[in-house]
Amino acid sequence: MTNTKLAMPLDTQSPQDLQQQSQVNKSQYSFPYKVLHWAMALVMIALLIAGQQFNFNISDEYRHHGLIFHSSVGTLALIAAFSLLIKRFLLKHHRPESGLPYLQTLSANLVQFALYALAIAIPVTGLLAAYYSPHEVMLFGSYKISLASGETEQAWTTIRWLHRWATRLTMLLLACHAGAALYHHFIVKDDVLRKMIIKPFRR
Ligand code: HEM
Repeated sequence: MTNTKLAMPLDTQSPQDLQQQSQVNKSQYSFPYKVLHWAMALVMIALLIAGQQFNFNISDEYRHHGLIFHSSVGTLALIAAFSLLIKRFLLKHHRPESGLPYLQTLSANLVQFALYALAIAIPVTGLLAAYYSPHEVMLFGSYKISLASGETEQAWTTIRWLHRWATRLTMLLLACHAGAALYHHFIVKDDVLRKMIIKPFRR
């Protein structure tokens, strides 16, 4: 939006300019919404990729350090997911109209709800996996959150399986979610993705 009037100080703008400004704001997600969305996306993708290291034959020391980082960043992801959930479903902060046909809006919402549920389920199963893990897990390098005993092997195997399949389902849904956004941006050329882009990156 390149309207110089909109960049004028508030007291020099006419009511029409202010109304136009408010329409521009309503057609976008708010700045905190965008920051939380992209922070969560980055953290989730980083952990989904970095988490694969635990499937390799790694030394105990490497696993110990990897788990400090993994569990700490994962817990921060849980806090970000809760904040976004509260913003959307409890505080019901403004979200721009999708402007898409009914079926497209419905499928986009279903994928978003599933991603919200998984953004909570993954860290929660991760915390439980850490609790039952035979390896020591030090949250933020300081708090031991694992029993680190060989006697919880069965519970650990089950919870880790849940954590793994939740991450696999998330990879699939993230690919659909991001694929749909890119399809709208580059093929349909509408403003579905632009509504979520932070200003300096928006063209
Ligand atoms: C958004 C958050 C998270 C993501 C995306 C994520 C992702 C992953 C992935 C991809 C794996 C490997 C799964 C496999 O293929 O077996 C893994 C393993 C694991 N994660 Fe998470 N995780 C998250 C949060 C957490 C949290 C919060 C904790 C604990 C506080 C945690 C604890 C663990 C543990 C204990 C393992 C198994 C490590 C091992 O084999 O020793 N995760 N995670």
